[in-house]
Amino acid sequence: MRTSIDTTILLFFFFIFNFTAPFSSSLPHHHSHFLKHTLPHTSNPQPYIEVTRPLPFTNLTPSCSHPLFTHNFGNTYGLPPVSVPYSPPFNCSWTHVVLWFKASCKGEQYDRIAAVWLDGAEILRTSTAEPNDDGIYWTVTKDVTKYSSILVKENITLSVMLENLVNDIFTGVYHVNVTFLYYDAKSVTGVQLDDYVDNPISMGVSKLGSLLGSDDKPADLILPISANGDNGLWFRIESELGMYGQQVVIPKNTYKAVMEIYVSFHGNDEFWYSNPPDSYIKMNNLTTKRGHGAYREVLLKIDENLVGSLVPFPVVFTGGINPLFWEPVVSIGAFDLPSYDIDLTPFLGLLLDGKSHFLSLGVADSIPFWLVDGNLHLWVDNCALPCEVKAKVVDYGTPKFSIERSSNFRGLDGSCEIEMKRKSKVSGWVNSTSGNLTTTVSREVKFKNKIQFYLNGTEKRVIQNVREETIVSVLSDTGIRISRTTTKKTYPLSMTTKNSPSSENDTSLMLTDLDHEWRGKKSIGDLSISLINRQKCNGWMVVQDHDVLSGGATTQQAYSYRDEVGCYSRIVSAANGTLMSDTSSSLCSFSAL
Ligand SMILES: *[C@@H]1O[C@H](CO)[C@@H](O)[C@H](O)[C@H]1NC(C)=O
Ligand SMILES: *[C@@H]1O[C@H](CO)[C@@H](O)[C@H](O)[C@H]1NC(C)=O
Ligand SMILES: *[C@@H]1O[C@H](CO)[C@@H](O)[C@H](O)[C@H]1NC(C)=O
Ligand SMILES: *[C@@H]1O[C@H](CO)[C@@H](O)[C@H](O)[C@H]1NC(C)=O
Ligand SMILES: *[C@@H]1O[C@H](CO)[C@@H](O)[C@H](O)[C@H]1NC(C)=O
Ligand SMILES: *[C@@H]1O[C@H](CO)[C@@H](O)[C@H](O)[C@H]1NC(C)=O
Ligand SMILES: *[C@@H]1O[C@H](CO)[C@@H](O)[C@H](O)[C@H]1NC(C)=O
Ligand SMILES: *[C@@H]1O[C@H](CO)[C@@H](O)[C@H](O)[C@H]1NC(C)=O
Ligand SMILES: *[C@@H]1O[C@H](CO)[C@@H](O)[C@H](O)[C@H]1NC(C)=O
Repeated sequence: MRTSIDTTILLFFFFIFNFTAPFSSSLPHHHSHFLKHTLPHTSNPQPYIEVTRPLPFTNLTPSCSHPLFTHNFGNTYGLPPVSVPYSPPFNCSWTHVVLWFKASCKGEQYDRIAAVWLDGAEILRTSTAEPNDDGIYWTVTKDVTKYSSILVKENITLSVMLENLVNDIFTGVYHVNVTFLYYDAKSVTGVQLDDYVDNPISMGVSKLGSLLGSDDKPADLILPISANGDNGLWFRIESELGMYGQQVVIPKNTYKAVMEIYVSFHGNDEFWYSNPPDSYIKMNNLTTKRGHGAYREVLLKIDENLVGSLVPFPVVFTGGINPLFWEPVVSIGAFDLPSYDIDLTPFLGLLLDGKSHFLSLGVADSIPFWLVDGNLHLWVDNCALPCEVKAKVVDYGTPKFSIERSSNFRGLDGSCEIEMKRKSKVSGWVNSTSGNLTTTVSREVKFKNKIQFYLNGTEKRVIQNVREETIVSVLSDTGIRISRTTTKKTYPLSMTTKNSPSSENDTSLMLTDLDHEWRGKKSIGDLSISLINRQKCNGWMVVQDHDVLSGGATTQQAYSYRDEVGCYSRIVSAANGTLMSDTSSSLCSFSAL
């Protein structure tokens, strides 16, 4: 991604924005680059962090460590991903696996998007921090146990893509190492993966559960819904009309299916949640292409049937809004972008006919461009082959979708609003050795966005909220409830940018603030896991010809996690590029939940 300021937009919208494809910009380089080297820095390489919680088993010594990948990503734009062979470690006993992604960079460089795929399945979507002349470094640790069915495979390929551009001005080369750490959590902690491996249908909340992914027993099989092109294994979605996917045939003994979706937004849609309607751009003769309103939704189809959707959490990359916010604490999700699960079990009746089906992804209302792909996680009955699981979609429900848009502009001032609601309920039975179980998935999504312009368009405010509730209930054929899982997610965001161009020179003072939050709660029966992760940022910068001449920023973050085992809270504050405080506690009373 490039971080840059478009002159036209600078006057009206005051955004710093990024391009993953630098050459797709119509702006010449010297008009879009954004240099931070003028700002003072400490002289030692600085660690960057994304605030998160320690994984429960990472205090154990890994049974094996597998350094697999080392590469220096220089001028990699337009090149295919870098691939290395993977095989699991020999003679190693493990129950859990952590992906350890280490990166460092020095010089001038924009934030870039990157991903890691194993055997074609994405296992990490990440973005880079913008470096400085003293150098920066960071690590991402991610529990990838849910990909165990791939991690046990021999002679497969690990691929890493990081689109970078290096020349005389953008000197930063990203050095990346990827290591897999294998833990045997069973032998030490008594935390038994097998507790629910043995009885997947009535699984409890995993003690190792994660709100950001499937937290039940790892799937038996994962089918990537990804691209095989030379431009990375993600689908590059350039139009709201395109659906990208793959034909799949699933095993006849599949009894559970969950689609996991990875997504990031770039180019003119990097700040989709702050894009005004096209009418505003046209009416004011603006040249910006950052329009098409602020509603976006990732859609999942099986053949022609819409079977799921999601409104993504608006991850801000490290060059976004005000790059000084993200030194050295990056935005929520910037190093470990969330993936989203859609339970397709009620649709097994459609998929289990032995024929191939087209699973595809698209982004409603999108403009270029989005990077999207998915993994179809499948659980198969270990009945004696050739056994078949029978399934039928019983009720597609009556999906409800409504979207209302209003706008009221006079010249460059005014406001626009969007309200979207989507409601669906689908149920289907699946007859396997676990019984004849009926799964019902009910889902409700509410999306609200309001954008206001003041002071002849020099001040812009964005307020957005996304609320999603999904209830998955499983009943036996005698009507007994086997399980009920409720997942609630809320992503509030409010952001203001004010721009005061100087009358004497071409500098501009930009005031920026952002308050955004990931809120999630998952309940299975009376057990629950919840997470509140909030960042409040405030800052200013003087910008001239796309250079930050001076500036200051503060970022405050509160992270609060609770599950049935305990709590974890962390409060972090950073100011002017320095970490001021970072305190954590495992006392539940400390928690704000
Ligand atoms: C495998 O590991 C076990 C325990 O560490 C050891 O006793 C055994 O000799 C190893 N087997 C091989 C083939 O290396
Ligand atoms: C990657 O590994 C190499 C070899 O162990 C090491 O020299 C280098 O510093 C590592 N780079 C990062 C970014 O961790
Ligand atoms: C993986 O490759 C090695 C070396 O070529 C070979 O000995 C082994 O049989 C292969 N394993 C599989 C599962 O193909
Ligand atoms: C936009 O351009 C048209 C045609 O050049 C002109 O008539 C109109 O006044 C312009 N509007 C604004 C707001 O500048
Ligand atoms: C349901 O599945 C069980 C276990 O596989 C099987 O024994 C039974 O025959 C199936 N019932 C029907 C009606 O197919
Ligand atoms: C508003 O901004 C436009 C474009 O910069 C400018 O042409 C116009 O004169 C401004 N109007 C006022 C009232 O300042
Ligand atoms: C499974 O149960 C549903 C109703 O609960 C029933 O309609 C269906 O026929 C059953 N399927 C099998 C294979 O028994
Ligand atoms: C630009 O003008 C402002 C006053 O409008 C002044 O404070 C600033 O120092 C000037 N910057 C440069 C780089 O000349
Ligand atoms: C950050 O830097 C700015 C400008 O140098 C200064 O005004 C502000 O007080 C600093 N903030 C903190 C918390 O140090």
